[in-house]
Amino acid sequence: MGKTQRPIQIAPSVLAADFGHLADAVATVEEAGADLLHLDVMDGHFVPNLSLGVPVVASIRKLTDLPLDVHLMITDPAKYAPAFADAGADNITFHIEVADQPRKLISQIRDLDVRVGVSLNPGTPPEDVLEIVADVDLVLVMTVWPGFGGQEFIADCLPKIEVLAGQIRADQMLQVDGGIDEDTTISVVTAGADTLVAGSAIFGSREPGAALHRLRQMALDARAAAEPTA
Ligand code: DX5
Ligand code: ZN
Repeated sequence: MGKTQRPIQIAPSVLAADFGHLADAVATVEEAGADLLHLDVMDGHFVPNLSLGVPVVASIRKLTDLPLDVHLMITDPAKYAPAFADAGADNITFHIEVADQPRKLISQIRDLDVRVGVSLNPGTPPEDVLEIVADVDLVLVMTVWPGFGGQEFIADCLPKIEVLAGQIRADQMLQVDGGIDEDTTISVVTAGADTLVAGSAIFGSREPGAALHRLRQMALDARAAAEPTA
């Protein structure tokens, strides 16, 4: 399946950070070796919540050199993607559920000189993205219904991770997002995920850096157990 070729990556989700101390939060996870910074954008329409927008992404861009992984939980990603690219996004992920013409949307986002991701809600089958998987840089499997941090992981999503892990290349990412913590990391990595988005498990911890290290070590151990070297 090529799982071993995709590096394990940890992407703290700042949704769970204290927005009054974002600079400290970003510095803490950057020092702890975060690979990406996951930024959740919500429009109160595609999901029943609001979060951060373009100015916050632009401010975070000035704080860090980490790749900014922007997850658009919004109904009209084509309209807003250019502003997020201008603000400094490195990856822009849209939801397949809002894309009438996914190929056109992928090329519109790619034209912004960013990496493109596609995300699936828990109720969306992997078949809905199989035709376009080769055209994106990352696939983001939601393991909770999007809109809120701190929800319980939905284990029914594991077979979907396995299906998609069998489809994507070594130069792509298979992200999981929602309820990723020390109890769920082993199962998602064993299923083939490589990039763990984690909000409350990191920023809800008294020591976010140590929490990040633990998640990474668990993920590395789970992968080693799943695919022992010959
Ligand atoms: C949920 C967001 C997630 C969220 C995850 O809609 O897409 O990125 O921050 O939070 P935790 O890790 O707390 O489930
Ligand atoms: Zn997210």
